[in-house]
Amino acid sequence: MTVLEVKQLYFQFGRQTVLDNVSFSLDKGDIAGLIGNNGAGKTTLMKIISGILPGAVGTFDLHTDSVGALIEAPALYPYLSVKENLKFYCNLYGKDYAIIDQFKNDLDVAEYLNRKTSKLSLGMRQRVGLFIALIASSEFILLDEPTNGLDPSGIDSLLKLIKKLANQYGITFIISSHILANLDQVCNKNFLLRNHQLTSLDDGAHAKYKIYSEDRSLKDLIDTLKHHDIVFERKNHDIIVSDLQAVQAALNKEGITIQYEKAGLSEVFFDEN
Ligand SMILES: Nc1ncnc2c1ncn2[C@@H]1O[C@H](COP(=O)(O)OP(=O)(O)O)[C@@H](O)[C@H]1O
Ligand SMILES: [Mg+2]
Repeated sequence: MTVLEVKQLYFQFGRQTVLDNVSFSLDKGDIAGLIGNNGAGKTTLMKIISGILPGAVGTFDLHTDSVGALIEAPALYPYLSVKENLKFYCNLYGKDYAIIDQFKNDLDVAEYLNRKTSKLSLGMRQRVGLFIALIASSEFILLDEPTNGLDPSGIDSLLKLIKKLANQYGITFIISSHILANLDQVCNKNFLLRNHQLTSLDDGAHAKYKIYSEDRSLKDLIDTLKHHDIVFERKNHDIIVSDLQAVQAALNKEGITIQYEKAGLSEVFFDEN
């Protein structure tokens, strides 16, 4: 089921183009990663989707009743407890307080419900922010750089939580980050925002493969690829290629068998930057 379909979206701040011909679609339960450098337009795109920012041109079909968003830091009342903050947002979005009990364990905030939000760690604040987005919508949630400032274990547990929510409840997510390695592990769709344009990193033209050989050294492989004029990239101890068939054909001629795996987003991204 399609949750969002964006076609040929354009957006400008004054005379500055921020989004140029952006098209993509999301299905129910997708976790979409939105990667881009600072200033690429990630926050702008999220604000447009969540309806905060008017003025975009293009086709925009949203098939959910609501959108929840955590853009920048969550707005929390510091002297109120977590529970009181969540109740405030239940009232704001017209939701029954029962949603707090329903999700408090999934979101791992049960133990903190009575704590003032000024006393929360950053990781906990992000969870409460995610909870508020969930109160706004249990269908479609936008998280703008939710991993910023978290340590690796905090990032890991937040991403696992997002994955659980997507799998268990069919919630659709867009998560942005300027650090793509953060998103690699959970996203089933990956988009790069660069030069105002959005590219899917999952389609064939962008797919890349790490290749290995059990019986040849790295140097042998590289020499052979060079000898056959095959374009490849080096990243640390990996060789990365895009045209897997041509590579296999060339190496087979030399009697070399290779193993391969589809490169992760971090390997794909480094030469896009
Ligand atoms: N309110 C605004 N008015 C004018 N320009 C803006 C505004 N917000 C963002 N921009 C510009 O739009 C571009 C995209 O910004 P943004 O969406 O915040 O990028 P990102 O979230 O990827 O870092 C940047 O060049 C930024 O300076
Ligand atoms: Mg931003």
